[in-house]
Amino acid sequence: MDFISIDQLDKNEAKKEIDMLIPKLNAWSQEYYENDNPSVEDATYDKYYDQLLKIENKFPELIIDNSPSQKVGGKVNNDFNKVVHDIPMLSLGDVFSVEELKLFLDRLKKSQPLSEQYNCELKIDGLAISLIYKNGKLIQGSTRGNGQIGEDITNNLKTIKSIPKTLNKAIDIEVRGECYMPKSSFLALNEQRQAEGQAPFANPRNAAAGSLRQLDPSVTKKRNLSTFMYNVSNYNDIEADTQSGLLKELTELGFNVNQEFKVADKQTDIDQYINQYQDKRNDLPYEIDGIVIKENQLNLQSLIGNTIKVPKWAIAYKFPPEEVYTLIKDIEWTVGRTGVVTPTAVMNPVQLAGSTVSRASLHNFDYIKKKDIRINDTVKLYKAGDIIPEIESFDPSKRPNDSKKYIIPSECPSCGSDLVHLQDEVALRCINPKCPAQLYEQINHFASRNAMNIDGLGPKIINQLFEKKLVNDVASLYTLKFEDLIELEKFGEKSANNLLGSINDSKNNSLERLIFGLGIRNVGTKAARLIAEHFNNIENIINTNSQEIEEIDSIGHTIAESVFTYFNKETSKELINELRSNDVNLKYLSENNDNIVDNYFNQKTVVITGKLIDMKRSEISDWLIKHGANVTSTVSKKTDLLIVGKDAGSKLAKAKELSVTIWNENQFINEMNKY
Ligand code: IVH
Repeated sequence: MDFISIDQLDKNEAKKEIDMLIPKLNAWSQEYYENDNPSVEDATYDKYYDQLLKIENKFPELIIDNSPSQKVGGKVNNDFNKVVHDIPMLSLGDVFSVEELKLFLDRLKKSQPLSEQYNCELKIDGLAISLIYKNGKLIQGSTRGNGQIGEDITNNLKTIKSIPKTLNKAIDIEVRGECYMPKSSFLALNEQRQAEGQAPFANPRNAAAGSLRQLDPSVTKKRNLSTFMYNVSNYNDIEADTQSGLLKELTELGFNVNQEFKVADKQTDIDQYINQYQDKRNDLPYEIDGIVIKENQLNLQSLIGNTIKVPKWAIAYKFPPEEVYTLIKDIEWTVGRTGVVTPTAVMNPVQLAGSTVSRASLHNFDYIKKKDIRINDTVKLYKAGDIIPEIESFDPSKRPNDSKKYIIPSECPSCGSDLVHLQDEVALRCINPKCPAQLYEQINHFASRNAMNIDGLGPKIINQLFEKKLVNDVASLYTLKFEDLIELEKFGEKSANNLLGSINDSKNNSLERLIFGLGIRNVGTKAARLIAEHFNNIENIINTNSQEIEEIDSIGHTIAESVFTYFNKETSKELINELRSNDVNLKYLSENNDNIVDNYFNQKTVVITGKLIDMKRSEISDWLIKHGANVTSTVSKKTDLLIVGKDAGSKLAKAKELSVTIWNENQFINEMNKY
């Protein structure tokens, strides 16, 4: 977005602009600091914030208390005890170019006596923390919170290896710095979360924030966080008289200090430091988002002083967001299990924010049309949330003269049948039930853990089965023979028998697994279970109508319609007949419930509400049902337990009113781990 030029703004327009900027910035700030879940790039926030500061500079009478310029950012989380910072924890002012940096330093030099020695440090992209030591022993660790009041996270910080519990000198001192997640830990954590079906963290900063705010310190411990300390709250507590000397003293006391700092005495040295680390940024094992330039003499720092929000003796130079240009060689369309056809841009490989990128999702045809993306276009790429490559726009100056608008495909890339737009959908769909790409995805889904759970039947094997024409739908899996499997790549007698065994075992699954495995639109594991429980066997489902399905508690109109439509199709009925003739169980096995071992949740009525961090709502609900609980969606007198995530609303209020037991996600996980 391009902002209105400040020079042309009159006071009325400025007020309007401020009224637009403040709610946006405050909402983004809340997402970033409190929910650890930002919806915009840091660079976007910075751009809006910069515009706000410029307007407030021109019309100081328009500054209001609620303006982000008057707050440090961050709020206190209610789950932790509050800590009042005796000396506020400040943020940093920022500049976005070396020209702006020069202006800042020139202005400072004019108004203050400077030593002309600047300590240049890396700006670590983590979370500010404070550590208080008495007699050399760590007694308290906290977050910055809103700068005045933070959260007491002592027990979590104590699990971090780089934080000394005892210093090399028995002194009283408050040390401040940054807690961060190394890139390697971040990648490993996200890989694990994805494997477990949990949402990955957007970036290492969010992952660090989420890990520090765990109620259970053993979770923090597993997250492999680290720290770099760079400041003390009171210079009387130390011997050094320069910032660079302070960093050395902190190292000697036993703290982890980032050793890449450098004292510069000319702007050119600062510029060189900036360039050097802008280039080296991706090779560092931790994320940095800029450079911090600090007056090196500590007594001068004190003399120059602070505003309510930032020190006047330091400034952050923020790196521009990483963007690269590359060429689109092709647009590929892939068919999902429900027939949705999704476009992907295939590009010349480029390095972007630490990884090689050659593909980016184009989401749907409307997206291609809106951005007017064409094959042979040179496009600007960035990483959304620092992870997922996204195309921002094409470069018109590089568009070939003979470039033509991209034409929507009319045929399915897999089976060649006509593609359609279903009502109210942006997606394009192939509606051929025999489309090989869909069938392949359906088999993948059918075999997956939450569906029929066929151990050893992964995508590579399914691919081979398809190529060898050994399967063509989910029912044909049950006709596979030893002679077929032994022919597969890397298959011996043992693996063929094992796979046959797990396919055979899956015949005994209870009906809900089959219903979920059939991949009916809008039907997840919970709906599948409710339907199976209600109708008991597949015949009852085939013979019902959508009203009756909708009468099931927690099943809405959309799901009911989807289920009814699916079982009403001839092809579905044929598939069910094939499954039946292959002895696949089509009944709900209520004895599932007889196997439930005694546990806290058995026979309890549980409601889940709010945003969850470590587990998906469906995972919690599945686990609870398996352990004998009744999971419902409304809080009533019958509710035994409410599990609350973030930002819970009326259900939490109702539960409090009815004195229902309330647990947060961690309390639930702790109890769950006992069984
Ligand atoms: S100095 C009064 N030095 O950046 C001291 N901050 O965007 C102010 N940060 O709140 C902080 N690396 O959490 C300083 N080398 C560094 C830093 C650093 C990262 C963080 C810090 C600060 C934030 C401002």
